[in-house]
Amino acid sequence: MSHNILNYFGQINGAFIHARGRAATLKIIELLDCKPGQTVLELGFGTGATLTYLSSVYKNTSFTGYDASPVMFEAAAKRLKFCSADKNVKLKLIQPGQNFPDDSNSFDKIFAESVLAIQEDERLKNILIDIKRLLKHNGELIFNETIWLDTVTREEAEKINLDCKKAFGIIQANAKYTHLSNWTNLLKDLGFEVEVVFHASNLKHQRFVKPVNWQVILSELLTIQGKVKAVFSPKLTKEWKSYTLEMSQIIPPGRQYMEGVIIKVRNVKIDV
Ligand SMILES: C[S@@+](CC[C@H](N)C(=O)[O-])C[C@H]1O[C@@H](n2cnc3c(N)ncnc32)[C@H](O)[C@@H]1O
Repeated sequence: MSHNILNYFGQINGAFIHARGRAATLKIIELLDCKPGQTVLELGFGTGATLTYLSSVYKNTSFTGYDASPVMFEAAAKRLKFCSADKNVKLKLIQPGQNFPDDSNSFDKIFAESVLAIQEDERLKNILIDIKRLLKHNGELIFNETIWLDTVTREEAEKINLDCKKAFGIIQANAKYTHLSNWTNLLKDLGFEVEVVFHASNLKHQRFVKPVNWQVILSELLTIQGKVKAVFSPKLTKEWKSYTLEMSQIIPPGRQYMEGVIIKVRNVKIDV
């Protein structure tokens, strides 16, 4: 199977596609602590569930989203419009590998959920450098990413990534910066101060987000509709079965390889 699994999630309006799902997103939102007048960027917005939540709750904050996938871009634009949550959000379809399209010092806060870790090799570092450029001095970067456990060697991680890339079109988690200490050292080397390191496994799973407003309810309904579509479409069901079968062969159950880590850093140094 050579499909990109992200297209599958895009087609079914898959939401909160990251470690600990909704619960982790709510933690990210708590850490973001959006204020009126602030500018906030999401890198890799997927089908836009987090942006919909944020823009409907923080109506006086300006949100921008970048994603590299046309399928995700379309799904997120539809979700925001359907939920009437598009007024304070700008979505941008970007080219992976190129510098981000906004000016330096544009954002107070930048966040990502399961986007940085799927960048290969030095691409992770290059993206962090460009994120730093976009952040204002003292701006914050907050992310939830899957990182290999210390018990997994770089060689094991590279082998799994190779197989995943072949089967699903994306790697599991960057193997050059294999472990949590490699990530925190990289962030410090780039001139970020690490303020929070939180293990997502400490959060309790959450099946629904609290219906804080009607826009969030509509967004949840859209996600449920996508799940129903996935169950009743023979093509999508076949695709999902094939993914799960291949995944169980690449990463046999019984051993834990990765964990979700939520990290908040501050852009303290102007130049590195
Ligand atoms: C695993 S999905 C997560 C989506 C969403 N953040 C969530 O948690 O549901 C990764 C997303 O990042 C996007 N992405 C991956 N690499 C990217 C890059 N270099 N620049 C922008 N978006 C990227 C993908 O298109 C996809 O929408």
